[in-house]
Amino acid sequence: MASNHHYKRHLQPLSSSSSSNTYFVVFISIIVLIALFLLSSHNVTSYATIPIAVETVKPIKQYVSGRNDDNGGASAACDYSEGKWFYDPTIRPPRYDETCKEIYRGWNCVAGNRSGALEIVKWRWQPNHCALPQFDPLRFLESHRNISIGFVGDSLNRNMFVSFFCSLRRAAGEVKKWRPAGADRGFTFLKYNLTIAYHRTNLLARYGRWSANAKGGELESLGFKEGYRVDVDIPEGTWAEAPSFHNILIYNTGHWWWAPSKFDPVKSPMLFHENGEPLMPPLSPELGLDVVLRKMISYVEEKARPGTVLFFRTQSPRHFEGGDWYQGGSCARLQPLSPHEVEKLFSVQNNGTNVETRLVNEHIYEAIKGTAFRLLDVTRMSEFRADAHPSSAGGKKHADCMHWCLPGITDTWNDLFIAHLSSLRYDK
Ligand SMILES: *[C@@H]1O[C@H](CO)[C@@H](O)[C@H](O)[C@H]1NC(C)=O
Ligand SMILES: *[C@@H]1O[C@H](CO)[C@@H](O)[C@H](O)[C@H]1NC(C)=O
Ligand SMILES: *[C@@H]1O[C@H](CO)[C@@H](O)[C@H](O)[C@H]1NC(C)=O
Ligand SMILES: *[C@@H]1O[C@H](CO)[C@@H](O)[C@H](O)[C@H]1NC(C)=O
Repeated sequence: MASNHHYKRHLQPLSSSSSSNTYFVVFISIIVLIALFLLSSHNVTSYATIPIAVETVKPIKQYVSGRNDDNGGASAACDYSEGKWFYDPTIRPPRYDETCKEIYRGWNCVAGNRSGALEIVKWRWQPNHCALPQFDPLRFLESHRNISIGFVGDSLNRNMFVSFFCSLRRAAGEVKKWRPAGADRGFTFLKYNLTIAYHRTNLLARYGRWSANAKGGELESLGFKEGYRVDVDIPEGTWAEAPSFHNILIYNTGHWWWAPSKFDPVKSPMLFHENGEPLMPPLSPELGLDVVLRKMISYVEEKARPGTVLFFRTQSPRHFEGGDWYQGGSCARLQPLSPHEVEKLFSVQNNGTNVETRLVNEHIYEAIKGTAFRLLDVTRMSEFRADAHPSSAGGKKHADCMHWCLPGITDTWNDLFIAHLSSLRYDK
């Protein structure tokens, strides 16, 4: 709790929260002194994080008993990404259920009668060296007044956003639909004046249809006729204002970069442009992704107000087996995969149907190095969960082995998000 308060003061340096709690005042005074000391020896405008001594690992038992002791166990030093899923039928019920209206029908596995839908949330992620507690929505709301949180990315970030919304909705009381500029959807929890929003963008960069110009041009002279123009230096309008609006942002991109059904390398390739001119020679999607990540990350860093907390979420794995989605691939499993099965499905050497998962991450890791972004690494834990996709729930034509059932594992992604957030004590 205390760390949340402190961290919020950085988000809103001008708000003078007057607490009658003496402990709190004393605590803040100490923190301010420490912060002043630290600031005097660090460049104020830099985003560098000051490493902090972190707490000890909490016993695993604590999590099993369902207590959320000030996000105990959450620590910047913990590697949440390596661990195991444990089946735990006594796990406390999910923070919301299938009646949450914001759940997109195709992701509502309980209502859509996906077999085993109720089992999905009975597994808990146990990192190897610490605990990842279920976050407490009420406590979160109470310690995050007057702020806003933006999810920026493709439908997988929407999936995470919906999980977050449904978790808070139950605890929050009155909620008002409200969208910041460009957002696809957004809500304000009135009692707490906390806004959360989802900004839809597939590539982060702006893109649109491109056709050869009769007058010719560089791309035309290479024989290009149709494609998508991707402006590597222009953020898509849906989120261009988001970095200066939100206090906390969670970005993702990835799925659309390996989506030949839309960006067919021959019939409708991505054609990268910078300063309005085609980049020559034309870039492959992989190289284009690197340029876009670099440009968009520096755009966000420039645009964000000091103290804004930035996350980049890693790639969400797909679990198509027996072919890709348009080839009749499916995901009918009822249990998480074994580590061996995970390697078979995702190792880059095997070049399987879902090989893009780890490839995308290599680009993301490289792009955020030395930037203000923190990594939200959901990939490894999710790779195991071949059982947690909607599959053919609700009578879909193609199995959905890409998005996740809700409630489901994006709830755990949000636990990870909150654990990271809670560990930020000296953010600048
Ligand atoms: C799920 O099963 C229930 C009861 O068997 C049925 O009423 C409902 O229509 C089914 N829903 C879907 C989407 O198939
Ligand atoms: C939130 O904002 C309101 C109005 O600006 C202010 O009265 C209140 O103290 C703020 N709360 C926090 C926790 O900053
Ligand atoms: C709500 O929070 C925003 C910042 O997110 C702040 O600008 C505004 O003054 C707050 N409003 C109230 C009524 O507290
Ligand atoms: C990987 O597999 C795809 C089709 O399944 C193929 O087109 C591609 O050439 C393969 N790549 C490598 C590096 O083997």
